[in-house]
Amino acid sequence: MSEIGLFEAMYSARALRRLKPDPVPDEIITQILDAAIRAPSAGNSQHWVFVVVRDVEVRRKLALIYRKASDIAKAIYQARGRPAHMTDEQYQRMMSSGAYLWEHMGEAPVLLVPCLRDRPAPPRETLPPAVQAIYEQELVYTDRIRGASIYPAVQNIILACRAFGLGTLITTNHIRCEGEVKALLGIPDDVLTYALMPIGYPEDRFGPVKRRPVNEVAYADRWGIGWPG
Ligand SMILES: Cc1cc2nc3c(=O)[nH]c(=O)nc-3n(C[C@H](O)[C@H](O)[C@H](O)COP(=O)(O)O)c2cc1C
Repeated sequence: MSEIGLFEAMYSARALRRLKPDPVPDEIITQILDAAIRAPSAGNSQHWVFVVVRDVEVRRKLALIYRKASDIAKAIYQARGRPAHMTDEQYQRMMSSGAYLWEHMGEAPVLLVPCLRDRPAPPRETLPPAVQAIYEQELVYTDRIRGASIYPAVQNIILACRAFGLGTLITTNHIRCEGEVKALLGIPDDVLTYALMPIGYPEDRFGPVKRRPVNEVAYADRWGIGWPG
């Protein structure tokens, strides 16, 4: 493992979509997954499962599903337009990098699918009356935090890949066609997929990760009071 610092990893682990087809050793994937499972999950439930796809034919089929789902994403992006903080050039670069992946997802040597087993709220009748009375609210809460038990692990994967000199990114477009992905990979009904992450040695360089500055996105003590930093 390369000895890069945590902050260097965070500041340079940009979304890398152009990946070499060279294989990634299974031992490295194991270490990446071992870093992933250090992440927090609600109630420490650790109800995650990671499907590591190396088989060339399965990758090809997954890529076709991603391609199809991305047609929908493309229409949504076009309707939304460019975020105000991005220049035209930055936006075009992101869109063309995204479009590259529509055609090349299957060429990454590893496609990683982080999943969560469904963890439904306990049945209403098992709860005290005060909680039964707000049960619908609890269901909304459960739904709202669902992804929060897997996306910290996804970020650990991004950082661990960076430490190993591997490129990756989080993608979610495939969720628009999730049934097909689950059928292809034999994923049970009570398991949901949350990301599709191509992993491979990058064609392009890492970082820098560019973002809107802190003083534009942080408030001090209450909404609207600019953070002085
Ligand atoms: C929830 C989420 C979903 C995303 N889905 C996709 C996707 O389906 N396809 C894709 O190419 N990038 C996807 N991305 C990657 C973003 O485009 C990328 O993180 C963002 O442009 C910042 O890139 P940068 O770190 O290189 O600056 C997704 C990112 C997030 C956080």
